[in-house]
Amino acid sequence: MTQVTYERGQVGFGIDIGGSGIKGAPADIRAGELAAKRFRVPTPAESTPEAVADCLAQVLDHFEVPQQTAVGITFPGIIQHGVVLSSANLHKSWIGTDLADLVRRTTGHHATIVNDADAAGYAEVRYGAARGQDGVVLVLTLGTGIGSALINDGRLVPNTELGHLEIDGYDAETRAASSVKDREGLSYEEWAVRLQRYFEVVEYLFSPDLFVVGGGVSKDHEKFIPLLKTRAPIVPAALRNQAGIIGAAALADRDF
Ligand code: BGC
Repeated sequence: MTQVTYERGQVGFGIDIGGSGIKGAPADIRAGELAAKRFRVPTPAESTPEAVADCLAQVLDHFEVPQQTAVGITFPGIIQHGVVLSSANLHKSWIGTDLADLVRRTTGHHATIVNDADAAGYAEVRYGAARGQDGVVLVLTLGTGIGSALINDGRLVPNTELGHLEIDGYDAETRAASSVKDREGLSYEEWAVRLQRYFEVVEYLFSPDLFVVGGGVSKDHEKFIPLLKTRAPIVPAALRNQAGIIGAAALADRDF
């Protein structure tokens, strides 16, 4: 393991809780990049708060993160003041759990909890594909679900949950997430028809100046972004699957 020196405003720590893995790494907050190779623990099949808290402890132990270091943790659900208010793709017993308090009790660390797409969006605006962009940026992450981050002139409006817009009678992410493409064996062209409808509705409601598309599938952006027609440009995320860790670390450092 590389030796890392943590320091406020310079190097912090981020953990990204996802449906298949819980990944953490030290992050360089000035440069917006990982300061060491990330460490991943598979998400337990029974992804209860207690089981996930064990994984968080493993990640923090792996890097021997000092107690006084600000830790940012993402969660794939609505987060208000450290409390999980929705859990579409993890165990339902998360709803109502104070994750900040759980982390404090089980690991002793002070943690800032943030929605996964919000963390990724914040990182893309501060360091990545939307850096320097004025006005409204909408970051959409396509994965197990669809996450959204709305940023206006660099300020994040948290918990927009645009993956759950009801479109044509469906919860949008159950039609257009990339997991649905995989599950139903859709070609990029077939999937793009669904994405087009989704982007059209989102654009009509929010008129962003720029769309950023994140999530694992964004590495194949040239296979589907050119098929989408919107007024605002659509660009792939620059920080890819590291955006959550980096954004969480940066937000935690800001709040500490
Ligand atoms: C959740 C969001 C999350 C998104 C991506 C959705 O199902 O409701 O909170 O950001 O998935 O993980």
